[in-house]
Amino acid sequence: MGIGAKPTARTWVRSNMHTMTFALHSIPPIPAPTPKSARPTPWFELPHAPAPGSPVGALQAFADGQATMVELAAAQPDSPAFKLLVLRNGDAVHAFANRCAHFGVPLAARQAQLIHQPLKSLTCNVHYARYAWATGACEAGECDGDALSPVPLVQDADGLLRIGTKPDSV
Ligand code: FES
Repeated sequence: MGIGAKPTARTWVRSNMHTMTFALHSIPPIPAPTPKSARPTPWFELPHAPAPGSPVGALQAFADGQATMVELAAAQPDSPAFKLLVLRNGDAVHAFANRCAHFGVPLAARQAQLIHQPLKSLTCNVHYARYAWATGACEAGECDGDALSPVPLVQDADGLLRIGTKPDSV
């Protein structure tokens, strides 16, 4: 390349090859992504969590094979309601907090927006992360390695479903 001549991309690469090779070798390896914890946030640590023993409703009030959103009073006075997703399969029933593991926002703001495939999955209506019906584990989307927070339910002597107790270690 003559003096004063403007370098082309090719001549610039030739004259800087040594530096470029050195630079490439200097780049530290990219660390492997750290897998997220499979442990979802415990329900009783979530904002507006209801008190153990709070009434949820009679089993028969929940449509079989469906996911039903229920609003419960929070344990803390003057807090907004806690939204619970109750999933019924015959006489079996389980529940999850209405909270996506992706951004910690509701899977749906209200029942009509709740995306679910009966007995198969629940899907967040923000970015469509999909969770397994039975376990709440992430199946697809922006929730890899995470899960919905399960909320224990118990049935009292009158057949009313209530929020279960916290684990003993808490
Ligand atoms: S907030 Fe639920 S998938 Fe992003």
